Amino acid sequence: MDIKKRIAELQDEMTEWRRDIHTHPETAFEEVRTSKMVAGKLEEFGVEVHTGLAGTGVVGVLKGKHDGDGTIGLRADMDALFITEQTNLPYSSKTDGKMHACGHDGHTTMLLGAAKYLAETRDFSGTAYFVFQPAEENEGGGEKMVQDGLFEKFPMDGIYGMHNWPGMPLGRVGAKVGPMMAATDTFDITITGRGGHAAMPHDGVDAIMVASEAVGALQTIASRNINPVDTIVVSITQFHAGDTYHVIPEEVFMCGTIRTFDAEVRDSVEPAMRRIVNGICAAHGASAEFAFSRNYPPTVNHEAETEKAARVAASIVGEDQIDRDVKPSMGAEDFAYMLNETPGSYIWIGAGEDRAKLHSPHYDFNDELLPIGATYWAELVEQLLPASDG
Ligand code: NI
Repeated sequence: MDIKKRIAELQDEMTEWRRDIHTHPETAFEEVRTSKMVAGKLEEFGVEVHTGLAGTGVVGVLKGKHDGDGTIGLRADMDALFITEQTNLPYSSKTDGKMHACGHDGHTTMLLGAAKYLAETRDFSGTAYFVFQPAEENEGGGEKMVQDGLFEKFPMDGIYGMHNWPGMPLGRVGAKVGPMMAATDTFDITITGRGGHAAMPHDGVDAIMVASEAVGALQTIASRNINPVDTIVVSITQFHAGDTYHVIPEEVFMCGTIRTFDAEVRDSVEPAMRRIVNGICAAHGASAEFAFSRNYPPTVNHEAETEKAARVAASIVGEDQIDRDVKPSMGAEDFAYMLNETPGSYIWIGAGEDRAKLHSPHYDFNDELLPIGATYWAELVEQLLPASDG
């Protein structure tokens, strides 16, 4: 592995930062301590600091010592999760019910390490932007940064993201052109029949029977409505009705999640669900009400930037450690909002095969990954904004 010498020397310091953030986890839009630490360190390194985007977001601006107009954005996330840590590590979370179980403590640290190195050397042309975003988990801090003018205030030729990936060998890289993570949407359906005596069903409309038919029929969206080569999951995750033995309830409430990669497939789900459920209701004399909520869009990598990311990563970990067509995940990632505005690419870097998985109470970021990730960021800047390309 070709780790930058200066970054290797920062290993102990980075480990200290990472464990300090780990001890003090902060959740969505409340990353006040973390944000202050990031801004303070960037300032100490001599990086121009902008705060206030999406509340606790921080953007560092660093110009290279060579002339050039090129610009690049590197993005890390800072937030923790509502999980009670069970690692018993000496630097475990000191905040009840919150922990860094997704490694955003490590992501923040790797970008800080790269910023320190790049501010010392500045051996590139143009401008590098260090983007530290709040609230990646569920709350859409990345979307908020875009809405707050991230790309107008700091125009970038490309933006790059990275996530550590437990279960993949340490330092192995997963890249992919196109969808890498799924869109995540939710729905609520209330089916109303006519309640009555369970011994006299002919006097009512049985909402449970109607809703049960709908549950089965909704699986035909995946099997009969969407092209089999496209990917979709429709999962009903709640089904509530009735509270006694001898009464047919008036209403059934159901809800669930929809995961897709493709925008057209995503758009086609809501009309299909309405058609199927309304049709079944009409057949039986019931009615339905719907609420749909769109959350993160799919994370779709751009082709040229993904090639660049893979090439730079290969120069560090070796070509044989790069999977350029990694199997995507049905999980979601709010870097998606940034990729919808500006070309870029999001990769996974293996955190080790036998590490606890993301969002597990036993998870801990692998500190051996710190110099690999920091070198990736530094090399991206130096290779994509080369000194000679003024
Ligand atoms: Ni994460």
